[in-house]
Amino acid sequence: MRLRTSLTERLRVPFPIIGAPMAGVAHGALARAVTEGGGLGMIGVGSTDRAGLIAREARVASDGGRLLFGVGLMAWALGDRPELLEETVTAKPAFVSVSFGSPAPYVERLHEAGITVASQVQSTARAIAAVDAGVDIIVAQGTEAGGHTGTVGTLPLLQLVLDAVDVPVVAAGGIATPRGVAAALAAGAAGVWVGTCLLACPEAACRAEARDKVLAADETETILTRVFDVAQGIGWPETFAGRALRNRFTDTWHGREADLAGDTEARHRLADARTAGDYDTAYIYAGQAVGLVRRSVPAAQLVRDLGEGAASLLAERLEAVLVDGPARGPATARLSSND
Ligand SMILES: Cc1cc2nc3c(=O)[nH]c(=O)nc-3n(C[C@H](O)[C@H](O)[C@H](O)COP(=O)(O)O)c2cc1C
Repeated sequence: MRLRTSLTERLRVPFPIIGAPMAGVAHGALARAVTEGGGLGMIGVGSTDRAGLIAREARVASDGGRLLFGVGLMAWALGDRPELLEETVTAKPAFVSVSFGSPAPYVERLHEAGITVASQVQSTARAIAAVDAGVDIIVAQGTEAGGHTGTVGTLPLLQLVLDAVDVPVVAAGGIATPRGVAAALAAGAAGVWVGTCLLACPEAACRAEARDKVLAADETETILTRVFDVAQGIGWPETFAGRALRNRFTDTWHGREADLAGDTEARHRLADARTAGDYDTAYIYAGQAVGLVRRSVPAAQLVRDLGEGAASLLAERLEAVLVDGPARGPATARLSSND
């Protein structure tokens, strides 16, 4: 069973499921597997990623030009590293997200290259600003999400953004099962954008120790914190903290960021722990949906299961809850206006 939304029509994919760009984790192999499963896989590009990474991973993701893929960039990092945008355009992705900062300076260049542009937003105001800048697809990213995010939950944000803009809206944050996909689509989202549920897939660039921690963690074990950015001296804007698994490092330093910034030894300990794969100190960015990740499943299978499962659930649930057949009226009209 396939699903049809404005996103599947635009991207020509069977399922409205986008594999989130996760710097350091979502490289070409994961992106390719997500696309092979019927979604759209994305490559995550970090602020310190080396030149050449995008071209190399794009070759893997596209399987030599055969498959669609996307690239996720961070707006705040592009000012100092404009070459990341040019490398992205050269790699010929179908889809690029510019998130965490204004996408405005980059939209025209991407459109000229025929690329669909998305932006993750964490508030209604950011959604409206991104649409005004010409972004084609808005991703409403709730605070449940793994990695850097805002403070509003996915469901309120999704409802607000759906009402505020007239372009397709994709839901991100906390979606990891067919139930989550079905809920977002039923609310009017054109698709879903999933990261945490892919972390344990064999194609994710995670060490075995990190994968085991993800598989063991429950939904109460994450924290939204700036400590890892402070300790690494990374220039993330303060408005975006990162959701990671809680560990000894966050227990020690969260709330004491000013002390941490001046503690050279603690900062070295984090660097050493990252090299050693010691996740009591090093970070694992993951969202609240980590409590739903219990098995390491190939990403293509996971995407197929999400898409097919959501299609069955939507059919079953609609039949179960509708009293007099499909509703007619303003709610239906509103849904179809975004999607
Ligand atoms: C490990 C990890 C790394 C991430 N890195 C990026 C990134 O480089 N760029 C980006 O736009 N979003 C990044 N994100 C956020 C995702 O794009 C997405 O919003 C999030 O994973 C969705 O919520 P979920 O984790 O609950 O599925 C990252 C998320 C995770 C879990």
